[in-house]
Parts: sequence; C-alpha cells; structure tokens
Amino acid sequence: MHNTICHVNEYDCWLQNRGTNSFDAGLAGILSTIVANEKGEVAANAVKELQRGLSRMFGIDSKITEKSSAACVRMGTVSSLPGIAFPPMKAEGFSIKSANGDFLIAGADASGLLYGVYRFLTELALGNTGPFDIVDAPACPTRMINHWDTLENFTRVARGFKRGMKGDSIFFKDGKIHYDPQRIEDYARLLASVGINLVSPNNVNVRGDAKFFITEKHLPELAKIAAILRPFGIRMMLAVYYCSSMAFGGLDTADPLDARVGDWWKKQTDLVYRHIPDLAGYVVKADSEGEPGPFDYGRTHAEGANMLARALKPHGGDVMWRCFVYDCQQDWRDHSKDRPKACYDIFAPLDGQFDDNVVLQIKNGPLDFQVYEPVTPLFGALKKTRHVLEVQIAQEYTGHQTDVAFLPYFWSTEVMDFDMKTGPNSTIAGMIEDGVIEGFIGVGNICDDNNWTGLTLAQANFYGFGRLGWDPKTRPQAIADDWARLTYGDEKVSAIAAKIQMDSYPALGKVNNPFGVSFMCKPDFHYGPSIEGYEYAKWGTYHRANHEGIGIDRTASGTGYTTQYSPEVDKMFSDPATCPENILLFIHRLRYDHVMNNGKTLLQNIYNNHFEGYEETRGMVDAWKSLEGKINDDYFNTVLERFELHLDNAHEWCDQINTYFRRYTGINDEQGRKIYD
Ligand code: GCU
Repeated sequence: MHNTICHVNEYDCWLQNRGTNSFDAGLAGILSTIVANEKGEVAANAVKELQRGLSRMFGIDSKITEKSSAACVRMGTVSSLPGIAFPPMKAEGFSIKSANGDFLIAGADASGLLYGVYRFLTELALGNTGPFDIVDAPACPTRMINHWDTLENFTRVARGFKRGMKGDSIFFKDGKIHYDPQRIEDYARLLASVGINLVSPNNVNVRGDAKFFITEKHLPELAKIAAILRPFGIRMMLAVYYCSSMAFGGLDTADPLDARVGDWWKKQTDLVYRHIPDLAGYVVKADSEGEPGPFDYGRTHAEGANMLARALKPHGGDVMWRCFVYDCQQDWRDHSKDRPKACYDIFAPLDGQFDDNVVLQIKNGPLDFQVYEPVTPLFGALKKTRHVLEVQIAQEYTGHQTDVAFLPYFWSTEVMDFDMKTGPNSTIAGMIEDGVIEGFIGVGNICDDNNWTGLTLAQANFYGFGRLGWDPKTRPQAIADDWARLTYGDEKVSAIAAKIQMDSYPALGKVNNPFGVSFMCKPDFHYGPSIEGYEYAKWGTYHRANHEGIGIDRTASGTGYTTQYSPEVDKMFSDPATCPENILLFIHRLRYDHVMNNGKTLLQNIYNNHFEGYEETRGMVDAWKSLEGKINDDYFNTVLERFELHLDNAHEWCDQINTYFRRYTGINDEQGRKIYD
C-alpha cells in the first residue's frame, strides 16, 4: 500500500508552501495572469502577495499585467476597477467573483483587497476552485495583538523547553530592539492573512528602557518595524508609561489636571508622530498591579485617559485604556473586598466622561484570563464610551504553550455567545456586530521559536483569534477544521488534529478549574497546580475552601457581584440550579454535599471531572501518537514532546486536587478510583 506522508513546515503555520497543485490546465492558466493597476503601498502589496502565494503555495508562476484579453485574475480596489459592478462592501471588505471566465477580486479599500487575496488563496488551499460569489468584511474595525514583550528576555527554561507564557520576543533581545526584518515581514503576512490590523510590540507593564520608546532613542528603530508592517495594512500602537513626564520629562508630577503634564505629552506625542505618522495611538495600563496612574493624584480614570487622548487627537490617534484595575494589596483576612467587582465599580460610573478618542480595553473576565470566568459585567453596561474586548492568546493560565488548549473554543462558547441581556442583540458577538464593542484585542502568543508559538499546535489559537475578530460568530469547530486543513492538507490527519483541538479545552477545564475555582496554580509562574498558592496572598484571588465547602458567595446576599449584571443575568447566576456550571463556584459558595443538576454531589462531580479530564488528555495524546509516520517526524516529535509534559501536568492537577478535597472531607470517590493519601 502506498503511504503518503503529510509534510508540514512548522514555520509556515496555516500558509503552507506546498509548491504544487492539482488544478486542471484551464484553472492553472487563468491563475497565471494577474491584471492589476494598483499603486498604493497596501494595494500594490496585495498584488504581490497574490503572486507570491500562487507561486509558493501552488507552484504557479503568474505574471502581472495591466490588461489581458484572456481569462485571468482581475483585481483592484473598487475605484481602480471602473465599469465593473460590485455588491456594496463595508470598510476593509472585499468581493470575490467568478465572471466571464475570470476571477475578480475587489477590495472596498486597499486593506480589503489584501484580505480578499488571502481569502482567495485560502479557498484554493481548501480545495474550493469556484465559481465564487463571496462578499465579506470584518465585523469590527479594531483587531489587535498586544505583545507583552519585554526588552529583557522573558523565557524561563524548564526541562529543556522554553516556558513562560510563550517565549522570547521577535522584536527585542538582550535589552535592545533587535529583530530580523524578514521574520517581521513573515509575521505581518500571518497577521494580515487572518485580518489583524494593529500591533503593539511592547509590554503593558512599561519598565526599564521601554519607557524611552517614545523618545529619539528608540523611535527610529520602531519606525522601521512600523514600515515593515504597513504594507500589510497593519498599524502600530505603543504601550506607554503613565508617569513618563516624571521619568524623563523633567516634571515632578504626572497629575493629569496639571497643565504642564498635558503640554509635555503633546510635545512628546508630536515627536512620536514625526517618526511614525500613522501610529494608531497608545496602550495604557494605569493604577494596576503597581503601575502608577491618575489615582495617585486623586484623579479619575477619565481625567487620566482624556489627558493622553488630547495629546493624540491632532494626530488621529486613540488611547486604549486598560480596565484591569483592582487592589492588588488585599488582606486575605478581609472578606469585604471582592476583586472581580473592581472593574465595573471603577469604570461604569465614568460612562460618558471619556473623550471620543479614548477606548476602554476590557478583559473578557473580571478576574484575569482564568480557564473559566463569567463575562465582565461592564459589557452591555457602557452606553456612551467606546470599548473593546481583550482576551489572552498567550497561554498564561492555560498551559504555557506546553499544554494544548484550543482557546477559540472558550472565546466563542463562553464569551462571544454569552448574552448580557442588556438589549435586543446583547450577546458579546452581537454587540461586536453592532459596533457597540468595536474591537477584539489579544495578548499575543508569538515568540522567536521557529514555530512561532513554542507549542506548534498553539498556532491554532493565533489563527482562531484572527477568525473571531473577523467574524465573532464563527464556530470553533469551523476554526479547528479550517486551521487543520490549511496546516496539514491531508484530510485524515486534519480530522484528527481538529478533534484534538476541540477536545482540549473541556479537558483543561475539568482538570484545573473545578467549576470556576480559579488561581489554584503556582504563584507567579502560573503553570502547574498549587491549590492554596494564592490563598493567603495579596492578590484577591481566594477560594476559601474548608472542610464543609468552597467558593465565594458573589450573589446579592454575598459580595453583590452578580448585581452588576442585568436583572436577568443576575437572576440566572444567583440560583445554583441555573448558574452555568463552569462558573458555579465562582458565583457561589457551596457545600461539598450540594447536589448538582446531574444528581451527584459537588464533591463527586469534582472527582469525576478530574478522572475524566485526565483520561481525555490521555486520549488526545494517543490520537496524536496515531499520526506517527503520517506527518514528517520533526513536526510530529516536537508536538509529542510537549504532549508528554502536558500529560504529566494533567496527572499532577488531577491527583493534587482529588487528594486535597478527600483530605478535607474524608469522603472517597464512589467509584473507588485511586485517590492518594
Ligand atoms: C496578569 C499577568 C501580568 C499582566 C497583567 C495585565 O496579571 O500576570 O503579567 O501584566 O495580567 O493584564 O496587565
């Protein structure tokens, strides 16, 4: 029997360069001529990208001409294709049509043309050769990656693997801006191919020399990076230090209402825009986890953000103002404070006080990118303030790019689909479609490893982030399937890889997040179990387990957190029988003998989930092993090596959590499975 091996190059992610095609001669002929008359930087790059993609992905050498009487690919922005009728297109949108033997790719604008090119290449790679009649556009205007890259190397090496939430930066190295221009271009291509149009390269905790990014010391180099991203329709943002006016501005204050501070930022920002004229603006983390902010001067976050916004306004820039603000100096003895309430308490009363170029950047959950959390109640509550949704693509709490965790599953089923019940179309996806939430921001998971993401299968998270930013109603199964087909080509291999992705998130939830109890992970490092690691810490991350029960009552009779939601959501959350089980112990304090909807006690359900979650993880590893000999060995083995660590980690979570609760309760698993003493 003839065994074909599926060859995958980990560097190319979902844009595999197969270099061959099985198109018939007619189709190959059409693809070998591209008619285009584009001059602008992005549109001209779109033409080049089509030529490059057809050559590298399918081995077709096409020529670019200004006209052709033969069947060909005709492409351009709507304004450069006079005489051809197109359906109405939204900004950054495109249409792909088959007409009179030609393929027509039209962009509403230059970015739309570029996205149309990638879509056309994707359709061909998925085996769809037409006829085409596609009209599409991104659901929201802001689709951004926030790199949390530091100038200093970030990686912690454990057991031979780069760990930490991702790995080292592609922009910085050893305290300096340091990058390979080709790599940045390849990165830009990956970003644009899934519709991402903004990148902030530096960490929101702006420390050390990164504070000087908005000075002559670093701007020339940053401008070079911006220039590499620009032809791909990608603009840069910079994370800035709130107290820059003191750090190097020669002032003794950063009080936003002190005119000297505003003036200083205006001048500094003028300088920044001389270097990067299309900078999209600043990302700011203020009054958060030790970072300074307006609270230090008795000012509100609206006053702080507006001051920066006014410096950016003449240049058309926005302030992305992060809402991750809470007291990180809590006393575990004090039950009166509840960290998840902070975001709403601080920002909801300020609705309407922000300038029109301030955009609040709100994490999906009120705690901190945990495996399961409710959706932050600020969504749906803000009526007069621009805002965006922030998720974490980097697997900080979800396995450090060592364990497989398909995050689009979570973003889609738990975040996008969640209905805040604040209006007629108040799911998060609905609010994105309606422009109420105007963007999707992801904390990036890209590093300088050859495969970009450390764990190769984590490429699916990067891909899926783009897909959901483009269309927040895309189903996770479709994302997993398309990612797998584009990556592996081979149908059987793809089906197995997609199934592994789809199985991964529920398995993760079962082993390390018992019904929404968070922060049972190792402090600081955030990989591996440490059940009481955060229990007596200052971070406000408590589960307060004792011999009778676990969790915090966050209903009206407890901390009152659920009252921050609409009455309907409050009601649903407040009854343990209707509260979504994934967040049951986030919202409620329950006894271990509480009987859940399946008729079993909470304790037995915790045991069941842990045994099952471990078995499901083992099933994923076995599924991967079944691909041995079907994928090139180097690719197969790098994934397998991480899977072995993943399985160890799941095992540890399972045993430690089961033992912890058995020790407290003295109650055995009803099925007599092994729980250690
Ligand atoms: C987490 C993370 C920090 C990060 C912070 C944030 O707490 O551990 O490193 O800075 O989120 O969102 O700003």
